[in-house]
Amino acid sequence: MRFKDQVSIVTGSGSGIGRAAAVAFGREGSKVVVSDVNEAGGLQTVEMIEAAGGQAIFIPCNVADNAQVAHLIEQTVATFGRIDNAINNAGVGGPLCKITYVSWQDYQQVMDVNLGGVFLCMQHQIRQMLVQGGGKIVNVSSVAGLRGLPNSSVYSASKHAVVGLTKSVAVEYVRKNIRINAVCPVFTRSGMVDSLFSIDPSYEEKLKRNIPMGRYGQPEDISQAILWLCADENSFLTGHALPMDGGMMA
Ligand SMILES: NC(=O)c1ccc[n+]([C@@H]2O[C@H](COP(=O)([O-])OP(=O)(O)OC[C@H]3O[C@@H](n4cnc5c(N)ncnc54)[C@H](O)[C@@H]3O)[C@@H](O)[C@H]2O)c1
Repeated sequence: MRFKDQVSIVTGSGSGIGRAAAVAFGREGSKVVVSDVNEAGGLQTVEMIEAAGGQAIFIPCNVADNAQVAHLIEQTVATFGRIDNAINNAGVGGPLCKITYVSWQDYQQVMDVNLGGVFLCMQHQIRQMLVQGGGKIVNVSSVAGLRGLPNSSVYSASKHAVVGLTKSVAVEYVRKNIRINAVCPVFTRSGMVDSLFSIDPSYEEKLKRNIPMGRYGQPEDISQAILWLCADENSFLTGHALPMDGGMMA
């Protein structure tokens, strides 16, 4: 039990990668704060953790809303006393088209959630981590945060920015016992990717050809990397953006 008696928050854990991370933290002995805008999905994740013998609560939060993020952190500390692991995973896919067709509203929505959400969460989490003497943060970026992704330019820009925030802020707090890393998944079978395939089923085979390992990621592949980045045995690891990509970036 690598995270026994620790406290972990996972945003966007009502489904997909976030749910897999929340369940994995619960299995490894951590108390878990499941958070999402999707209440039904969040409550289901709590049930899964409890069914496996773990302890979890659900706190609704739109990560793009400063007051809601402040409330998430306050309620977590009021309930469990501290935050050891903060996983900033909530995100949305962007419009699938060339930049000339992207509306300003779509641009703002993607940036508000994918970048603004990570910014706000880190601000509030780090204030608490400074009070308690340390902690670990993992931001969920994407391979689209490491390379361009045509027809997803805004999504790709938001995920590049998450890598920039991760590296810069990691160095700001490197001597405060706060480690901050990012994980950069390739296409992973979650609601986000399945809805892409439902728009055009031919994407499923086409996109897989770009992954050297010849398969999509599973949410559990990514959650294992998230837990590894948080593990105390990795106390020298900070400011890193780890591709979880079946070899794509190589
Ligand atoms: N699935 C992939 O192929 C893939 C690849 C690279 C990166 N990612 C990233 O992984 C993260 C998780 O995505 P997923 O694939 O599990 O998709 P998903 O759609 O299953 O999960 C995303 C979750 O975030 C929640 N969410 C959306 N907007 C929110 C907001 N404003 N506040 C709080 N919660 C919000 C959703 O309700 C959902 O539960 C995202 O940041 C995504 O960009 C996914």
